[in-house]
Amino acid sequence: MNEAAVVLVLGASGPVGRCFLERTRDQRIRAIAVSRRVPEQSWPHVTWLQHDLEREPADVRTGSLVSFGPLAHALTQVEQGRGLGRVIALSSASTQFKRRSPDRAERRQMAAMLECEKALKNACRERDIVLTLLKPTMIYGDGSDGNVSRIGGLVRRLPFVPVAGRGLRAPVHADDLARLTVECLIAGADSAGTWLLAGGEVLTYPEMVRRIAAAEGRSVRLLRLPSWLTKPAVRAARLTGRLKDVSPAMIDRQAMDLVVDDTPAREQLGWDPRPFRP
Ligand SMILES: NC(=O)c1ccc[n+]([C@@H]2O[C@H](COP(=O)([O-])OP(=O)(O)OC[C@H]3O[C@@H](n4cnc5c(N)ncnc54)[C@H](OP(=O)(O)O)[C@@H]3O)[C@@H](O)[C@H]2O)c1
Repeated sequence: MNEAAVVLVLGASGPVGRCFLERTRDQRIRAIAVSRRVPEQSWPHVTWLQHDLEREPADVRTGSLVSFGPLAHALTQVEQGRGLGRVIALSSASTQFKRRSPDRAERRQMAAMLECEKALKNACRERDIVLTLLKPTMIYGDGSDGNVSRIGGLVRRLPFVPVAGRGLRAPVHADDLARLTVECLIAGADSAGTWLLAGGEVLTYPEMVRRIAAAEGRSVRLLRLPSWLTKPAVRAARLTGRLKDVSPAMIDRQAMDLVVDDTPAREQLGWDPRPFRP
């Protein structure tokens, strides 16, 4: 990288974005960080730009773009085409699992994400931009993610947690993704490509819930129920305004293995994620 390279960071206020800003504090990187909100934290190397990317791309010229928010924003930013030579964008391994989800909204969301990945690859190819696309499984870390934090919320609220399956999980810590992003920025074209990423430990869904409870200082009671029994209960709770953050499709997925083979990333990018420590 050049001396004091300037990087435009989308999704800078999310879990991975915040870890990235923390990690680049001592690197020769200056960040222009986009968020719609007033920033909660400041760093000397970061300039915050309060901007809604749904309205239009950020009016900023940098050599590199790092995207930790919705992929569509990375695409419009690239299409605006102002001096970019390098893009690192976070997509999701969920496209592998939720493509055939029984939930129509999820199927649509995954189809849109795959379309967006394709469009981003084309847009970068047409402009000679080096693209690294990172596709992790579920992300956790810093208490603001929608996965581990959501289960932590259930553990605190409910006297027992219903469990409908023993599918495998490999949660990825947000800071491991931030570290990899910095390494990819430094590696340049050597890190180009699409990379599936899993966390450093594979565990069953019930074991993951137990670990999350233990991190909250609780020993959780798991109630094993078949999904055909749990789903109507979830639907009924949602109708009365409770359990809004749990969907019937999520119950079905508890029995599914949501893991990916990340051997290429381990061998070629040096991806070395930590074990699951919520
Ligand atoms: N959550 C997971 O477990 C997971 C797993 C694998 C991959 N991913 C991928 O990670 C990426 C981020 O996902 P996410 O779950 O963190 O939620 P998200 O809603 O996709 O992204 C949230 C971030 O994007 C910013 N953002 C959203 N809309 C914006 C807008 N209109 N203008 C400016 N900034 C905007 C938010 O900033 P402000 O709210 O501060 O404006 C926040 O920093 C996605 O590509 C997703 O596919 C997520």
